[in-house]
Amino acid sequence: MEIVVLRLGHRPERDKRVTTHVGLVARALGANGMLLTTEDKTVERSITEVTKRWGGDFYIEMGVNWRDAIARWKRGGGKVCHLTMYGQNILDVIDEVRETSDRIMVIVGAEKVPADVYELADWNIAVGNQPHSEIAALALFLDYLYQGKELKFRFRNAELEIVPRKVGKEVRLLKSQA
Ligand SMILES: C[S@@+](CC[C@H](N)C(=O)[O-])C[C@H]1O[C@@H](n2cnc3c(N)ncnc32)[C@H](O)[C@@H]1O
Repeated sequence: MEIVVLRLGHRPERDKRVTTHVGLVARALGANGMLLTTEDKTVERSITEVTKRWGGDFYIEMGVNWRDAIARWKRGGGKVCHLTMYGQNILDVIDEVRETSDRIMVIVGAEKVPADVYELADWNIAVGNQPHSEIAALALFLDYLYQGKELKFRFRNAELEIVPRKVGKEVRLLKSQA
């Protein structure tokens, strides 16, 4: 499965924390990378630092033109899921998404999403038809797509790895930190 998250409308002055969390959730729950339409070095630094310590090869591209990114993705044979409370309920479409493609672009908004996005998407998907959060919507989408398997993914090239414990904390050092 190849999954990229396209985060639309990030405003560096007010969305740093939410966009960082969108990226952290994307990485932790099995996406390969995140595209941002604006530049924000703070977001990039936070996520890159987590990836360095905890592994995997999650990438971030910033200053991306969203129309070009969608067109490129589709030309390469990928499909596009736009998460919006106005869409079809995830329970009614997620099997179709999983069976149609293993290359998925997931679009989440910040402020109002341009109307064209609804037309360009292969599916407009509601994680319940109530307003909530792009972080929660993304987490649930990935979980339904992977059917829970992402919760057991292991990350390559990590410096640190947690050993699950019933009580207390155990962290294994896998390689020395620079
Ligand atoms: C805080 S909402 C703002 C939505 C904005 N008012 C609009 O009309 O597009 C930010 C993003 O969260 C996601 N989101 C919020 N509720 C959702 C839901 N029920 N299902 C899917 N995505 C949702 C969407 O990606 C949305 O663009």
